[in-house]
This record gives sequence, C-alpha cells and structure tokens, in this order.
Amino acid sequence: MEELKTIQWFPGHMTKTRRKIESQLKLIDAVAVLLDARMPYSSCNPDLRSVINNKPRLVILNKCDMADPAETKKWIARFREQGITAVALDCKTGKGLNNFIPAVKNVLADRISAWNAKGMTGRTIKVMVVGIPNVGKSSFINRMSKQNRAKVEDRPGVTRGNQWFTVGKGFDLLDTPGVLWPKFDDKLVGEKLAYIGSVKDEILDTEHLAGRLLEYLRDNFPDSICARYKLTNEEISGKQGYEILELVGKKRGMLISGGEINTERAAAAVLDEFRSAALGRMTLDRAEECDEIRI
Ligand code: G4P
Repeated sequence: MEELKTIQWFPGHMTKTRRKIESQLKLIDAVAVLLDARMPYSSCNPDLRSVINNKPRLVILNKCDMADPAETKKWIARFREQGITAVALDCKTGKGLNNFIPAVKNVLADRISAWNAKGMTGRTIKVMVVGIPNVGKSSFINRMSKQNRAKVEDRPGVTRGNQWFTVGKGFDLLDTPGVLWPKFDDKLVGEKLAYIGSVKDEILDTEHLAGRLLEYLRDNFPDSICARYKLTNEEISGKQGYEILELVGKKRGMLISGGEINTERAAAAVLDEFRSAALGRMTLDRAEECDEIRI
C-alpha cells in the first residue's frame, strides 16, 4: 500500500514517549506488553526490546474474543518456548483477567522471594502497561482498576501523562501512551495494523484499504467473505480488491444516483464488520509463520 510506506508516526511524539518510558523503568518491577491476539507479531513494536531492556515482562494477548482460539493457544506455546509468559484476555467481557496478577507474580517469583527474605513482605508490585494505539490499554486498566477514566488520546501535542492505577492490594499499574514505530519496514505489517484500526483511517484511503483487506481475506479466509457478503469463490477469484469491494456494494444495494456503486459506504461497512469480528474470529499472524517476536 503506497501511502503506508510514507507514514511518519509523529516522530517527535514517539521519541518523547520512548524517553518517558525509559525514565520510568526504574520505578517498576515488570512490563506487561499488550498485543492484539489477532496479530501478535504485527502488533508488537520491534523497538520494544531495546526500550524495556531486561525488565521482567509478560505478554497479554488482548481481544482474544476476536481471534481464533486454536491460534491463540499456539501463540501462548510459542511465547513459552521463548521463555515468555503470555496470557489471553478479553477486556470487553473481562474473561481471563483473573489470570493476570497470578501470572505477574509467577514471573516475579524470585524477586518476591528475595523481598520476603529481606522482610519486605507485601511490597507493592508495580507493572508498566505498554502497547500500540487501540490495542486495549485503557480497557485493560479500566477493567483491572474497576473504575472508568477519561480516554486519553494518542495524539501529538496532547499530553497523555503517565498515570498510576491501584488495581488490587499491593498491585499498581502504570499506563503509558500507545507507541507505534516511526515507519513500517514490512508493508504487510503496516497494512494489518490499518485493517484492525491501529492506524487512524483519516490518514488512509479507506476504499483502497478495504479493497486490500478483501483481497487478503479472499486469499486467507475465503469462506468468511463468501458467507458474509453472499459471494461465490468464482465471483471473487482473480479479482482486484476494488472489484471485490464493488461486488460487496452491489450485493448490499449500496448505490448512488445513476446506479453507481457507493464504494465509500461499502468500504466503511467492510472495515467495521472486520473490526467487530462480524466476519468471524480470525488470527492474521500465525505463530508457525512468524519470525521470533523481539520482546
Ligand atoms: P488503547 O487504550 O490501547 O488505545 O485502546 P482502548 O482501550 O481504547 O480500546 C480500543 C478499542 O478496542 C475499544 O473499542 C475497546 O472497547 C476495544 N477493546 C479493548 N479490549 C477489547 C477486547 O478484549 N475485545 C474486544 N472485542 N474489544 C476490545 P472502541 O470501539 O474504540 O470503543 P468502545 O465503543 O468499545 O468504547
């Protein structure tokens, strides 16, 4: 996708965020890295390892309600092979949240024993929450702290200050702004992030994006689009994304005066339906096909 190659992720803002995260590291015991369960590889900031250095860490595979459960299991096993604990969460309903604090305590077991030996029993555990925009950091912290707070935007010029939340006796979470990396080296990673809405639609051509998504789904999950949009494999095979988008618009009766297909409306529908998992639970990054995740 041409336009994704040139996107610069507010470098000043991101550099500031990076510095802030680095300066807060001395205050925390562990880092919880939120990834999107539908694409754990693509939603992981490749800079993260160098930022969080050697702090103990664990992975939260959020939005697991929208991912293929079998693939999520494979990802958890894959992280385990890398020596990283990963837990699957659904912050929409709260499913899996109870596993979070025990998992952190498990990751920090040696430290907690050392604290206990020094008479620091019950010392507060401080965990920093990091993740790309839209991955569910606010939802996770709200769920954990059982309180609603104002949604703070990941926008340049708007300070989303680091904030502490007490989520249980002796357990604090530190929120951080969403960070994307300055530019995408891998075009497909950029596209996948746009599909799930981590790249703001306002800076993208949504018809082009929806077309690319339809092509991707045709190649990887053909049954889901055929069922949702009442298309046949013959109709979509060998077609360009824009042509499939037109077919979707036609099937949905999305027409403008003169009988022309309203591809803008069709694009909005396709993106909305994909993002709300109306097309089914899907995992776009497969554990066995991805390089090691650098966390
Ligand atoms: P952020 O702070 O990392 O930017 O993400 P945020 O919590 O704002 O979540 C982004 C969107 O993802 C929200 O939807 C939120 O409801 C949704 N979300 C978060 N966790 C989960 C999850 O585990 N499962 C599902 N299905 N959705 C999740 P939204 O449409 O932008 O807002 P809202 O209308 O839900 O409030």
